Amino acid sequence: MLKITILYGAIREGRLSIRAARAIEKALKESGKAEVSFIDIKTYHLPVMESRLFEMKNPPDSLLEISSLLSGADGIVLVSPEYNNGYSGAMKNAVDYFTKEWSHKPIGIVAGSNGKMGGINASNMMQLLVLAINAFPMPYKLLVPELQNALDEEGNPQNEIMAKNIKRFVSEYLWFVEAISNQVKKGSS
Ligand SMILES: Cc1cc2nc3c(=O)[nH]c(=O)nc-3n(C[C@H](O)[C@H](O)[C@H](O)COP(=O)(O)O)c2cc1C
Repeated sequence: MLKITILYGAIREGRLSIRAARAIEKALKESGKAEVSFIDIKTYHLPVMESRLFEMKNPPDSLLEISSLLSGADGIVLVSPEYNNGYSGAMKNAVDYFTKEWSHKPIGIVAGSNGKMGGINASNMMQLLVLAINAFPMPYKLLVPELQNALDEEGNPQNEIMAKNIKRFVSEYLWFVEAISNQVKKGSS
């Protein structure tokens, strides 16, 4: 079993993108190949980052818990809504706390919006973010346009295209995680 951690980055009241996070959690679990942990940033109430975790003298348990879920994962999925042509500030704030936790992790990207573009700008920016943290962004991304119609509250796809795209994302992602995590387990060259 591959250990996968989903980091979901919207904290807005009434957030719709939780549907995309639940959809991917469900699909990964249903694959039978992944043990999934879910980090909902909203439940951690993280303050704006003034110091990275490794520089803190007395780190809060919340950060230690997130650190361990990230470090222990074979692969990570970042899920964010699109806000002002980018991913959420809450996502960036959470990511910035951590350093070595990201190293060489294969990372899948999921973005969504209530419009027709499905968070494409946010997804492109998340790919750049992943490069900055010394991790590997998977080329195929899952975009969810019209979140309110594409997925129900539990994350079940409401049309065939959505169902097909989720299936393709999960299949490519498991391949990607397996390939990179096997190499990581062999150790550095
Ligand atoms: C501050 C803010 C900025 C937004 N900017 C964009 C945007 O640039 N592009 C877009 O497609 N949707 C934009 N939206 C709409 C979101 O995509 C929409 O709220 C969607 O439901 C996903 O966000 P949620 O999880 O917070 O609901 C924005 C929403 C907010 C709150």
